[in-house]
Amino acid sequence: MKVMTVFGTRPEGIKMAPIVKELEKRDNVESVVCITAQHREMLDQVLSLFNIKPDHDLNIFSPGQTLTDITNKALKGLEDVIKLEKPDILLVQGDTTTVFAGALAAFYQKVKVGHVEAGLRSGNIYSPYPEEANRKMTGIISHYHFAPTKMNEENLLKEGYKSDRIYITGNTVIDALKHTVKEDYHFQIDLLNQVDYENKKVILLTSHRRENIGKPMENIFSAVRDIVEKHDDVEVIFPRHLNPKVREISDKFLKHERIHLIEPLDYEPFSNLIGKVSLVVTDSGGLQEEAPTLGKPVLVVREETERPEGIESGTAKLVGTSYDKIFGEMDKLISDKNEYVKMANATNPYGNGTAAKKIVDILVEDFYR
Ligand code: UD1
Ligand code: UDP
Repeated sequence: MKVMTVFGTRPEGIKMAPIVKELEKRDNVESVVCITAQHREMLDQVLSLFNIKPDHDLNIFSPGQTLTDITNKALKGLEDVIKLEKPDILLVQGDTTTVFAGALAAFYQKVKVGHVEAGLRSGNIYSPYPEEANRKMTGIISHYHFAPTKMNEENLLKEGYKSDRIYITGNTVIDALKHTVKEDYHFQIDLLNQVDYENKKVILLTSHRRENIGKPMENIFSAVRDIVEKHDDVEVIFPRHLNPKVREISDKFLKHERIHLIEPLDYEPFSNLIGKVSLVVTDSGGLQEEAPTLGKPVLVVREETERPEGIESGTAKLVGTSYDKIFGEMDKLISDKNEYVKMANATNPYGNGTAAKKIVDILVEDFYR
């Protein structure tokens, strides 16, 4: 059985890596890796951490790329690679434009698609944008639906997907975290060793969502800055996404000596940093899974989420993007110990770190049946 994995961005790389490693272990599987490189630097660091050497690199990244640019280049590049490799199965992970283009390219060649992280739904096609639509469109043309949780499976069943093609596997992000998070981790970046995680209230901030760029992101950043001004013991670490728009807004709103604007971190230091900070403020998808797993309260600065599991467990709160709400919720967590302790629960609705093995077992069993 020849399995081609396709991915293009940082989060896809992190969550696909455990599957690539599992495929490589199997004698009866030929693993082919094709990256679109929708992201360049941010993906390359993931490849190097997990020691993955792609067989094909479409290298489509260009600064200022539009959604159409990404779709066009990935679709065409993948058509050529699929024709050359003729895989039995093509795997995509998540909801990015690479995922949609990858699934579509495979569908056009009548190659079976396996959709990893299937069935997450916010219910609003514009939030996250364009990811909600990417995930739904990928689902329609997929053969295997690997749903991380029961709720994800239920979403698919409600949309009429057949239960015998849906598999609850957990999320491969837990497999990846198991690989990277270590006790007594020592950072290569001095600043991260110098921060006083015991006595200071350290906020880990990330924000990059397309629908937040503009006023919502200005609200997020001004609320964070005002919290730092109000509380002397608060410090902020913001590993900034490489999107120039994120940099522009954060340069304007996040100037403060206790706010550290740093380059995107490699996944190993980043995941260990989550374990050390007091609180996470983010619009990221993956962080909504990682922070609850590591027992850190997460304030989700988005209007909708397709990951309600962390919220139901009480570790995450969906706070929206208005200044008052973001400021108020951060203030509450920083000032009220009871409130903080209530949220700081290690809950992990996302599996036990064996998702990659389950997914590969299912593919092998079905193929050699
Ligand atoms: C993409 C995904 C999003 C995912 C995010 C993870 C789509 C539509 N969006 O959004 O779902 O949450 O990745 O981070 O697929 N850049 C660089 N170097 C890099 C990566 C990005 O310079 O290695 C800059 C470029 O200026 C680029 C911009 O970031 O134009 C945006 O990148 P893009 O892939 O278009 O979208 P993301 O916002 O990263
Ligand atoms: N991440 C990382 N370095 C950083 C910021 C995030 O390795 O500086 C990881 C994070 O742990 C998570 C993934 O990148 O696994 C999330 O990526 P991102 O927020 O870009 O995308 P999303 O999950 O929102 O699609």
